Amino acid sequence: MSPETRPDFLINPEGLRLDGRRPDELRKIELECGVLKTADGSASIRQGKTYILAAVYGPRELHPRHLALNDRAYLRCVYRMATFSVPDRKRAAPSRREREISMVMGNALEPALFLEEFPKAVVDVFIQVIQADGGTRCASITAASLALADAGIPMRSLVPAVAVGKADGKLVLDLGDEEDKYGQGDIPIAIIPRTEELTLLQQDGSFTREEFLEAIQMGITGCKYIHELQKDALKRAYAKRAPEASEEEEEEDVGTEYEDDLETDLGESEYDDEEEDE
Ligand code: CDP
Repeated sequence: MSPETRPDFLINPEGLRLDGRRPDELRKIELECGVLKTADGSASIRQGKTYILAAVYGPRELHPRHLALNDRAYLRCVYRMATFSVPDRKRAAPSRREREISMVMGNALEPALFLEEFPKAVVDVFIQVIQADGGTRCASITAASLALADAGIPMRSLVPAVAVGKADGKLVLDLGDEEDKYGQGDIPIAIIPRTEELTLLQQDGSFTREEFLEAIQMGITGCKYIHELQKDALKRAYAKRAPEASEEEEEEDVGTEYEDDLETDLGESEYDDEEEDE
């Protein structure tokens, strides 16, 4: 199907979406921290076909100095889409949409950060959309928050984000590009999971009051799931960075608990062979 062709339906008679998802199902999400060596913190997100990199630098000295804030660090977010990130070549110059998303990202992330610990400094967050397939503003916030944690910026919470929309008159979680283009609206949200405080709430299209309230609940549930993925990604990154510690732990574990089990239950060769193959 060409990207320009409007699909006959967004929800099929079985109640499933174009990519086979149920209405309340997220796309497959893969998060990773520490993907860029030069940045103080970084993260990548793959959400369906959407693919985004986030890099964080700082806290560091702010240029130009007249932007400095006396009581806190300046959180400077820059969202950009690569020219090749969409089928029609995107113009390289920053668009109004990119400036708007940069601003709402900053607003969504700031309540989660202790920026008051670094007056006059700047924390730079750069987002590069490598491949856009819907939901890039929310995926950018999810990834940026992870990159800020990876950079060690003091924070109250990670900030997960997701959009809820309406397709063929039904509420759907985490819109793909066609649902975004041909659906009847979307509501991107970001939250502080512990308090369920909304730090991003936008709306495009029209929703009844009931639909709106249900959409928020659906979004909060989606965000809480994404929050678990964010925490997992951080734990994996820390485990990788402390290889000696985890190796020692593994050795201890094998020695005390599992050695006998390996010999009796699994046989002795499987694990040894695997290591040799590598
Ligand atoms: O990306 P998100 O849904 O958060 O924001 P949007 O402004 O609602 O954009 C929806 C989608 O339109 C993007 O994810 C892209 O897939 C697509 N888009 C595009 O094809 N060309 C652009 N210049 C901008 C967006």
